Amino acid sequence: MSTAKMVFHGSDIEKICEVYHLNPKDIVKFGANVNPLGLSENVKEQLAGRLDILSSYPDRDYTALRNTISEYCSVPSEFILPGNGSSELIALLIQERNPKHTLILGPTYSEYSRELSFSGSTQEYYHLREEDNFVLNIDDLCQTLQGKYDFLIICNPNNPTSSAISREDLRKLVSFCASQDIFVMIDETYVEFAPDIQAITAVTLTREFTNLMVLRGVSKFYAAPGMRLGYGITGNLEFLKKMKEKQVPWSLNSLGALAGELMLKDKDYIHHTRKLILSERDRLLHALQNIPTYKTYPAYANFILLKIQKPDLTSYDVFDACIRQGLMIRDCSSFECLDGEFIRFCIMLPEDNTKLLNVLSTL
Ligand SMILES: Cc1ncc(COP(=O)(O)O)c(C=O)c1O
Repeated sequence: MSTAKMVFHGSDIEKICEVYHLNPKDIVKFGANVNPLGLSENVKEQLAGRLDILSSYPDRDYTALRNTISEYCSVPSEFILPGNGSSELIALLIQERNPKHTLILGPTYSEYSRELSFSGSTQEYYHLREEDNFVLNIDDLCQTLQGKYDFLIICNPNNPTSSAISREDLRKLVSFCASQDIFVMIDETYVEFAPDIQAITAVTLTREFTNLMVLRGVSKFYAAPGMRLGYGITGNLEFLKKMKEKQVPWSLNSLGALAGELMLKDKDYIHHTRKLILSERDRLLHALQNIPTYKTYPAYANFILLKIQKPDLTSYDVFDACIRQGLMIRDCSSFECLDGEFIRFCIMLPEDNTKLLNVLSTL
């Protein structure tokens, strides 16, 4: 099969292996945005000894898990709704909110738009501007929102730009939205990778505003996408109750609920992950800033977006050069509202990052 003009998406490992004659185990997944440390050994060991819980239904209210999340996020446990990955909660929230006119801060994760397409809502993108390094202008966004929308979707830190909005700006934005009857969904899937989590998380704002739900999960930071554990946080208890009523009973399995309790208390793992990602992100950004082929942007998540500035070098060319060395990055050409040639890659182990840097520097 020819590789000319093929477009690969985030997790097309099988297709890529077929086209490039590669073995999946030889591929370094720079496109998956998952913590390269893998599952915590401590969590693995404890779960292995508790497999018998699969013979029982989970607690329908996930009380122990909600208590753990409550401590982890410093919010009351009544504010928390666990679910089957943040994906289930995105779908449930949109279904229950049933918006008429939605604004999505883009470019961003495509799943919001896919879920919205099953609702009766119109959807439009508010574009973060490349020339502003994808940094949001809050006043301009508020002006756009005025009188035209009832639902706003934000990913913070954002995928694929790795940009973030400060908590103070979010407070201003959510407060403005409250005055306009606009509900805000903030996806914080990548927030634990940020240099300063408290500076950007909206979790504490759920104590101040009821037009807000924050979504998080364990897929990326805790390297557990197969666990399918996500949770929503809102101070709007009436809305949370309605979402729960619509949710499939026991949507999170008992092993996932227990894993969540163990993961969020695993201080060593949290410490090692943050140490690795924060230092490697700085090292990579610094090195890339010295390669004129690429433009970098401030990065808050565990991935880096690069704009290719060399004439005639496309994102596909870069993807192709990397995958030939077993390094699978993300060609960003399929992202809406991202004009130009962009690639995204997540931070892996230092020796793999150096390999990628070497390939990128030859182009
Ligand atoms: C921004 C964002 N939100 C949510 C998800 C999916 O999360 P989960 O595995 O918790 O459903 C992803 C996965 O790539 C993502 O990038």
